[in-house]
Amino acid sequence: MQFSKRLDRFGDEIFAALNERRLQLEKEGKTIYNLSVGTPDFTTAPHIKQALIDAAADQNNWKYSLRDAPELLDAVCAYYQRRFGVTITPDMVCSCYGSQEGIGHMGMVLCDEGDTVLLPTPCYPVFIAGSLLAGAEPYYYPMVKENGFLPDLDAIPEDVARRAKYMIVSLPSNPTGSIATPDLYQKIIAFAKRYDVVIIHDNAYSDIIFDGAHGGSFLAYDGAAEVGVEFFSLSKSFNLTGARISFCIGRPDIIAAFRKLRGQIDFGMFLPLQKVAIAALTGPTDMVEEQCGKYQERRDALCGGLRSIGWDVADSHGSMFIWVPIPARYTSSMDFCMDLIQRAGVICTPGVSFGPAGEGYVRMALVLPPEQLRAAVEAIRQSGILEG
Ligand SMILES: Cc1ncc(COP(=O)(O)O)c(C=O)c1O
Repeated sequence: MQFSKRLDRFGDEIFAALNERRLQLEKEGKTIYNLSVGTPDFTTAPHIKQALIDAAADQNNWKYSLRDAPELLDAVCAYYQRRFGVTITPDMVCSCYGSQEGIGHMGMVLCDEGDTVLLPTPCYPVFIAGSLLAGAEPYYYPMVKENGFLPDLDAIPEDVARRAKYMIVSLPSNPTGSIATPDLYQKIIAFAKRYDVVIIHDNAYSDIIFDGAHGGSFLAYDGAAEVGVEFFSLSKSFNLTGARISFCIGRPDIIAAFRKLRGQIDFGMFLPLQKVAIAALTGPTDMVEEQCGKYQERRDALCGGLRSIGWDVADSHGSMFIWVPIPARYTSSMDFCMDLIQRAGVICTPGVSFGPAGEGYVRMALVLPPEQLRAAVEAIRQSGILEG
């Protein structure tokens, strides 16, 4: 069978070997510290779970929803005002089944075959997949240590900027843990206006940000809603990754086009999930803030712990990840991950899976409590992998 050429744009699953090794070691009874997954281990608030139970009990909620309920759109607008101080209207909001799915389809909304798009490297992999599905050609702008893992707009060649259709920005960053400054967002908006480039801001980690920094919305900056949209996911803030609830928010004509594409393939978000979103957005959020403090304790345990055993790891400033350079004698992040799991029982994600500039690093997720992270650090120390 000759499958589509589109599928050939994607490489083979690189995690298979890592997974196989993990299963083998687990079978042998070895203690495994799995820091590769990006799904929170914290619990979902009871009022959010109850909303699903109540909604599922009502037969009316089992039919096609066909659209976002007005109460849902109002809840998103009210949340943006309350949480981010941003005024938006219902025509600026469209739900999607997670930012993953939304970003995966956005390329097809904005691009034709052969169009140029600007993507960060390293980046969350669906940024690349979404552009490839659309047949677009990614130009990777580097997020490197020398620049604090932030975009350097001046380094993007003028001819590339002129032909680019959209640019994805995502801060706090998965995988680097870097965070934005107001000045950077203002520069991005000016860049978008100068070159007529749409900005897609992926805001998955606005609620996981450390050391007193403020996690906000891109749309809070003057002119942002004229140049782009923001993906606002409930997954990480409210610990409901499996429920697949996110929103694309911003410039109304882009939202209308996004709805048009989705209308061809989707009959609307399951009504009980719309109720879940309303419960999360209109309910108490003190647990979201508390949780941020817990992520920071984990960041301190892992980054501080790794430094204490001689690993030169910088503190992450936000997101649920830390970005760790591999020891100098390794040239492949995948090889290092395989050795790390074998020798220390610690699983992390090879940097190469985040695009061209990811090689030379691994990503570790803050998905275990501090005491287990300290135990993982101790397992790494005992393995001697940092020495040779
Ligand atoms: C930067 C980034 N964007 C989007 C997502 C996916 O979010 P969702 O669960 O809304 O699809 C993730 C998940 O890890 C992420 O790290």
